[in-house]
Parts: sequence; structure tokens; C-alpha cells
Amino acid sequence: MRQAMFTKILEADLKLFTNQSSSALSNTVVYEVQNGSIMLVNSILSLTRNGLTLLALTGYLLYLNWKLTLIVTVMFPSVAWVMRVLTKRLHKITKASQSATDSLAYVVEENVLAHRDIRLYAAQNSQAERFSHLSDSLRHLAMKSTVAGAAMTPMTQMLAAIALSAVISVALVQSASSGTSVGGFVAFVSAMLMIIAPIRQLSEVSSPITRGLVALERGLDLIESTASETEGSFSKQRACGDIEFSQVTVSYSPESAPALKDLSLSIKSGETVALVGASGSGKTTLVNLLCRFVDNSAGHVLLDGQNIKDWSLQSLRAQLAFVSQHVVMLNDSVAANVALGMPIDAEKIKHCLKAANLTRFVDELPQGINTVVGHNATQLSGGQRQRLAIARALYKDAPILILDEATSALDTESERTVQDALEQLIKNRTTLVIAHRLSTVHHADRIVVMDTGRIIETGSHTELIQRNGQYARLYKIGLHDGTLESATI
Ligand SMILES: Nc1ncnc2c1ncn2[C@@H]1O[C@H](COP(=O)(O)OP(=O)(O)O)[C@@H](O)[C@H]1O
Ligand SMILES: [Mg+2]
Repeated sequence: MRQAMFTKILEADLKLFTNQSSSALSNTVVYEVQNGSIMLVNSILSLTRNGLTLLALTGYLLYLNWKLTLIVTVMFPSVAWVMRVLTKRLHKITKASQSATDSLAYVVEENVLAHRDIRLYAAQNSQAERFSHLSDSLRHLAMKSTVAGAAMTPMTQMLAAIALSAVISVALVQSASSGTSVGGFVAFVSAMLMIIAPIRQLSEVSSPITRGLVALERGLDLIESTASETEGSFSKQRACGDIEFSQVTVSYSPESAPALKDLSLSIKSGETVALVGASGSGKTTLVNLLCRFVDNSAGHVLLDGQNIKDWSLQSLRAQLAFVSQHVVMLNDSVAANVALGMPIDAEKIKHCLKAANLTRFVDELPQGINTVVGHNATQLSGGQRQRLAIARALYKDAPILILDEATSALDTESERTVQDALEQLIKNRTTLVIAHRLSTVHHADRIVVMDTGRIIETGSHTELIQRNGQYARLYKIGLHDGTLESATI
């Protein structure tokens, strides 16, 4: 089940990660299901042992005196009723505890992520308060759950005691009239007293069973109710790289304005297109659309004349190398990070690292390209991480390259050296470049200026300057500042 859940996470629709935090998902996969199955296994063991004892003793009682035994069966509906009520309550409390545990884990997740900001802005007190509030409500739920679970035992015991006294009274009356032997009476009462222990243990089992089932339910929910990414079956070894966006609209939520509105753009194979525009204008959304990280609600996107929704995801994504705004590295060696998903070829890796201007950095590492970079490579500087991501894109050697502010964390000098690598990379490939610095988009075949999800201008650098529109205005601001390199939008 754990493996099925992890497989699901690997192929789930990306909405899953907006709806659930990483702590909630790891809770489900790592902790809940393990816990749930332990509870269920223990319960089944106890259920078998005590169930068999109960059955044997009931048989013996029936053999001794079936009329009296029938009185005992009267208590079964009452026990069943008590169990039902308490189990329902326990189910509700367990569900609530799960979400309280998730909220608590989420606070820990956030505080680990933002540990520096919390210290710097002295937010410890408010965070401690937030945690203790949630922790209290979890403790409260745990108390309720213990009470509900524990209530089962005295209530069934009480019912058993009532049944027992009824039996003894009736037996006394019976023996007075029909003369039951003393031995028979003692045997019957001993068997009845012996039956109480398994009944008690059986009633104790219902609480872990409920908790275990709720935990497993959560795992099954993840496996069965999470949508997988949809895909087609078209595949191609290597795409030519003709891209066509035709009247696409993308909305992240029905309430907010669409991130892309009726946008049309066609990019020829081998062309380099730069996207510029204010932040929030939809540049990242446009390139995410091509990778199918978001889906368009209207219009269509074609790659090599084929709707990307008809492409198999594996084949589509094999055509794309993406250096994104937010670089994520795995806690693995430099080589494994560069070759991510592909076989490691040390020579090729060294070549890519050299092109990304990282040779000196890697040579200084204790184990060279086999050095493990740590959790999300946080020991590396922003620029080094970004160059590592560029090396990863170089290694993939895909026909379409997407650079989403790929050099934003680099200083001017290393940007210039990486620029050479990028220029090599751009050759013979369809490239989409998003850049803050206008100097880096200068050489693109075509510049597309975007604003609030639409294209407002397109043309080459010279054409756009001549047109004297938005691009020219932004460009002039850059010139006024004296340094074109720092002209940012
Ligand atoms: N995951 C998301 N969920 C909801 N809204 C989003 C998401 N990503 C981006 N947006 C919204 O879509 C718009 C375009 O964002 P984006 O494409 O990231 O812009 P850019 O890359 O040009 O800065 C913004 O208004 C942003 O708030
Ligand atoms: Mg962006």
C-alpha cells in the first residue's frame, strides 16, 4: 500500500500538491498507514483468540442448559448498540485528530522552512502560540478519543453483569422447581464467569479497529480518489520543436482573473523567443502550460502540429529542458543531480559542468562530482544552484529549451560566462527565454512583450525600439540607470 501511495504521488495530477501540504502527504504515506495496519493486525489477533474462546464457551453453555443460555443472548443487541454509538463517535474523533495532526505537522514544516525569517523578524512567540493552540486541540481530541474508547469496556461489563444476575436468578427459580443438580449449576455459573473476560477483550478491540480503519481509509483515499495526470498516446523520439499556442486561456481559480487570456503565439523550430513583461503577466504560466504543469481551459497548444494533450507525458516532457525560477536539487551527488533521470556519464557531466562555469567549484569539492549536495543543495549559493540547473538542462540535450529567469541569481560576471554556455545551448533548438534583464533578451529572434495574460507587442529588438511602445519605454529606463545589465522589469 505504501508503494502504491508513492507511485500515486509520482503520477498524481498537480492539483494534489496545491491541496495537500508535504507534511500531510508524508504523514499519510509514512506514518498513518503503518500505524493503522499495526492496530488492525493486533486487533485481528485478539479478535481470533477471544472470538474462538467465546464461541467454545457459548457452545458449552448451550450444552449445559440451553434455556438459560438464551437469556444471555438477550444482551447481544444492547452490546451491539453500545458499540455502534461509540464506534461512530470514535470514527468522528479520529478523523478530527488526523486533520489536527496535519495542521500541527504543517506548523513544524513552515517553521523549518522559514527558520531564518522567524528568527530575524522575532516571530517566535506568535509561532509558539500558534503551535500550542493546535497542540492543545490535538490533546483535547486525544482525551475524547481515549474516553470514547474506554467507555466501551465498563458498559459491556455492566451489561454482562446484568445478564449474569438475571441468569442466576432464573437458575435459582428453576432449580427450586425442577431440581437442577448443584454440580450442573456451578459448572454453568463458572462458564458464565469465564465468558466475561473474552467479551471484555472483544469490546476493547473495537477502538483500535476504528482507528486503524480510519488510518487505512486515508491511504486508500489517496490511492483511489486522487486523479492521475491525463495523457494521450502520441509519442516521438525527438520533436522538431514547432510550437503553437492558439487562443489559450488559463485560469487558476474561477474567482480570479485568468492568468492567460486568449493568447496566440506560434514559434518555429529553432527559433529563440524571449518573453518579457511585468511580474504576474503570465510568462511562467505560459511555459508551464507547455510542460503540462497547468492545463488550458480554452484553446489549444500544439507541438509539432500535435495537441500536447494527445502526447504521452513521458514523450512530451522528454522534449523539454527547463531551467526554472526556483531551482530544486535532490540530496544526492552532483553527478546524480546533473544526470537526473538519465544514466550517469562522467565525461558528459564534466563537459556540462564546464559549460555551466562550474568546473572550479566542483574541483574544490571533497569528492568532486560524487560529493553529495545535501538537502536541496542549501550549502550552495543561489548562483551555484542555478548553474547546476543549467548543467542539468545541458545534459538533457532536449530539442526545446525553456529558461525561466535562469540567470536571475547570477552576478554579472558569471552571467556572462554562463551566457556563452546558454548561447551554445540555444543553437539548433527552439528556445523560450524569460528574463528580467533586457540585456539577456537582446539577441532573441523575437521578443514577445506580455501584460496581464496577453501579448501586447512582438518583434525584434530593433523593431520594438522603433515602435516606441512598452518595450522601448522599459529599455530606456534601463539606459537611464546607466547600467543596461541591471535594467529590470
Ligand atoms: N499556482 C498558482 N495558483 C494560483 N494563481 C497563480 C499560480 N501561479 C501563478 N498564479 C497567478 O497567475 C498570474 C501569472 O503568474 P506567472 O505566470 O507566475 O507570472 P510571471 O511569471 O509573468 O511573473 C499571477 O497573477 C499569479 O498570481
Ligand atoms: Mg515567473
